[in-house]
Amino acid sequence: MPHPDLEFERPAEGPALVDRLGRPLHDLRISVTDRCNFRCRYCMPKEVFGPDFAFLPRSEILTFEEIARIARLFADRGVKKLRLTGGEPTLRAQLPELIRMLREIPGVDIAMTTNGTMLKTLAEPLARAGLDRVTVSLDSLDDATFRSMNDMDFPVAMVLEGIDAAAAAGLGPVKLNAVVRKGVNDHTLIDLARHFRGTEHIVRFIEFMDVGSTNGWKMDEVMPASDLLQQLNAVFPLAPVDANYAGEVAQRYRYLDGQGEVGFITSVTQPFCGTCTRARLSAEGSVYTCLFAAEAGADLRAAIRSGASDEDLGALIDATWTQRTDRYSELRSASTSGLRPRVEMSYIGG
Ligand code: GTP
Ligand code: 5AD
Ligand code: SF4
Ligand code: SF4
Repeated sequence: MPHPDLEFERPAEGPALVDRLGRPLHDLRISVTDRCNFRCRYCMPKEVFGPDFAFLPRSEILTFEEIARIARLFADRGVKKLRLTGGEPTLRAQLPELIRMLREIPGVDIAMTTNGTMLKTLAEPLARAGLDRVTVSLDSLDDATFRSMNDMDFPVAMVLEGIDAAAAAGLGPVKLNAVVRKGVNDHTLIDLARHFRGTEHIVRFIEFMDVGSTNGWKMDEVMPASDLLQQLNAVFPLAPVDANYAGEVAQRYRYLDGQGEVGFITSVTQPFCGTCTRARLSAEGSVYTCLFAAEAGADLRAAIRSGASDEDLGALIDATWTQRTDRYSELRSASTSGLRPRVEMSYIGG
């Protein structure tokens, strides 16, 4: 039986594809590169992702034709949202061309999560190609804190220009993702909220997660969203708002004085696996059914490159989703964290 909170549109024909916990397949997050121009310490620490790190060679990365073919097969199975991620997706050459190809798939929302540094030049061509909206990572407005968190000395002004360019190109309202790391950027978060109050943009505060096995995650660096909510509410009174759709990741709150909304992504303190409808495709073509997966699911690149038909590929996707039992965040505890190797966020794209 589907989870009671999941009231999804079903594919027009055939039974809905649901996993072993009754969750339908609704989103596909597509990593288009494993590279990034930032080295956020919580994602790609320099000690691991330094000059000698072996990123994927070009031949191992899916071509645009391969990505579009796979995306279409997922759409045939009920996927309504495609989200491009990375690493940093804007580093992939000719990205607007991929958007153009994905836009030909009927009935899908196309979004992208980016660090915003390339949007000044790319927002317009991406929007023209058919991208619907962007989410920009922005951990702090304090320049010193921002430079230190991205660890490549990128100024925050560059990201703010990118956000403006996205809005001007029609890719707004922009969602802004701030990873909250206690003792690192928590002193700058009220300012972040204040800056975007009264604009169409929506700041979302994300609890620092134990993704991957290189970021030195510790529970005592997690600031529970409930604490931050309390702090923000004391300055700008807030009220909860219903989710936009079943399974939405962020909990929404609106400013009581009508100045917009903020969101909280509470994957550590209040996990949301029960409504998780997301599949992930790595840049090299493997399907992952959880952000915290230790192993890949189906290897679609191998299947495609050995001549698989759409039917064969579809059967692989169906088998992967129908066998899915993942609910890592619900099972997480401080003692399980770090026990097994896990896929890196920069590889599977958030
Ligand atoms: P929209 O509602 O369509 O805007 O998408 P979204 O909220 O999924 O946007 P986004 O991709 O920006 O997700 C926000 C952040 O939430 C990600 O960067 C992750 O940090 C976290 N997140 C997203 N999906 C999952 C998930 O399935 N599990 C966990 N644990 N965290 C997730
Ligand atoms: N915890 C929470 N969010 C993370 N992101 C990357 N690593 C982590 C982590 N350890 C977020 C980024 C970006 C998205 C791709 O994932 O800030 O918004
Ligand atoms: Fe790059 Fe995003 Fe990871 Fe930062 S969080 S290193 S911007 S992929
Ligand atoms: Fe989905 Fe895995 Fe995140 Fe749970 S931990 S919400 S199953 S991706």
